[in-house]
Amino acid sequence: MDKKLHIDLQRVPKHVAIIMDGNGRWAKGQGMNRIFGHRNALTAVRESVIAASEINVEAITLYAFSTENWKRPKIEVDALMNLLINSLKKELPDFMKNGVKVNSIGCIESLPKKAQKVLAEVISETRNNTKIILTFALSYGSREEIVNAMKTISKKVVNKELDLENIDENTINNHLYTFNLPHVDLMIRTSGEQRISNFLLWQMAYAELYFTDILWPDFRQEHFYDAIIEYQNRERRFGKTSEQLTE
Ligand code: IPE
Ligand code: IPE
Ligand code: MG
Repeated sequence: MDKKLHIDLQRVPKHVAIIMDGNGRWAKGQGMNRIFGHRNALTAVRESVIAASEINVEAITLYAFSTENWKRPKIEVDALMNLLINSLKKELPDFMKNGVKVNSIGCIESLPKKAQKVLAEVISETRNNTKIILTFALSYGSREEIVNAMKTISKKVVNKELDLENIDENTINNHLYTFNLPHVDLMIRTSGEQRISNFLLWQMAYAELYFTDILWPDFRQEHFYDAIIEYQNRERRFGKTSEQLTE
């Protein structure tokens, strides 16, 4: 059965964010170490981006490394950074072929120099692609992002570049890493955990949340479409009543 046929192309989420979770447990299930799980996560990334792009999702954001993930054993952190460097290089031709514009959010300066360099190259090479924006959240923490925004805004107020009275939701939005992205419509988390951790806290207001037990390395196009179909069966009321929506 082609799940795509069950999707209403007029009501596709603009921005889908994914917490790619469960690599370690997946590897453990195979009797392997955690790093094996991370290595086997690439297919899921590819399939999700292709699936999203085929139904005209504008933006897909993947939580790849959190500010808290730095606390993991050094050997795992190093492996993840190397994987990032190698995968970005390896995927560049496909990003070009598929019109994928790569973007990043997070404290990019804290990544190893080599990762920063490859990331900057891939972002630059893909900058004119228009089919879909693929954002990697790297060394990303939503709380840190909000703190940084507060600091920048406060400085502007102190320097009289910005009037306190003029601070509104747009001001905050424009100072987040995600200033150029639409709000999140759908958040998917794999591996059965039902939490947001430290992902896009501000941006997820009114997002629909979708949790699946599938472990990230097993996540495929059909699972992505299951989430879209579920999303389309939800009623997004944004505070209004159901009746108001049909009026
Ligand atoms: C997600 O898988 C990948 C990252 C957080 C980098 P995990 O490594 O968190 O896998 P589990 O949750 O331990 O199974
Ligand atoms: C969230 O996964 C971060 C990423 C997927 C990059 P974690 O596995 O780090 O989250 P917690 O600690 O279980 O909430
Ligand atoms: Mg995890």
